[in-house]
Amino acid sequence: LESKTHFVSTTHCFRRLAKTLPLRTDTVLEIGSSFGHTTEILAKRAKEVHGIEHSKVMIDALNTRFSNNSHVVVHWHDARDIYGIKEIIPKIDLLFFDIGGDAPAHIAVYLSQLYINTYRPRVVVVRNISLAAMLQEVVLTEYPNADRRYHKYRNVPSQEQIIEHYRDQAKRSDRKFIEREDKRRKKSLDLDRSL
Ligand SMILES: C[S@@+](CC[C@H](N)C(=O)[O-])C[C@H]1O[C@@H](n2cnc3c(N)ncnc32)[C@H](O)[C@@H]1O
Repeated sequence: LESKTHFVSTTHCFRRLAKTLPLRTDTVLEIGSSFGHTTEILAKRAKEVHGIEHSKVMIDALNTRFSNNSHVVVHWHDARDIYGIKEIIPKIDLLFFDIGGDAPAHIAVYLSQLYINTYRPRVVVVRNISLAAMLQEVVLTEYPNADRRYHKYRNVPSQEQIIEHYRDQAKRSDRKFIEREDKRRKKSLDLDRSL
């Protein structure tokens, strides 16, 4: 079963899909519940809604807001702990993913892909402005299944690999890039001065 993914930029569109996509039998996982506007919309249709939020202030507000809804459970948890979340919520049908529309695209891609590959939900909605903007220009996607080398992109990395990714990987290559750029700029600045 393949996941069907919607990429959106506005909360308006995100919430419209929250209204129309869930079936009465669905378990929904919402990443980044904030104050629960979308959570509440999802809860009108879905059988069960699990909201993940790492802000304590928001979790307190969410707990108050949904204290009378037994089919809504909000979890004070960091979304990057995918194994921890999988342990609490073993199976979902729908994923609503919004860690902030202006989050850098590579961060949204890495994390939403982890969720898609872990759960293989029937439908996925990702809110990220730069991703949605980029995908608007898409004329072709070549489905990667034909080549076995691409299988790693569908695998879920280990907890250690995920931690390593967040700790190091991006930073190491960023540092190299920054060093190189600093050198290059210094060179051209020195050149300017000497002219
Ligand atoms: C733009 S808000 C979501 C708005 C929501 N979709 C709505 O319709 O109201 C993004 C939320 O994601 C949460 N968030 C960002 N990174 C997170 C992470 N790593 N783990 C859990 N929550 C996170 C933020 O605290 C924030 O509340």
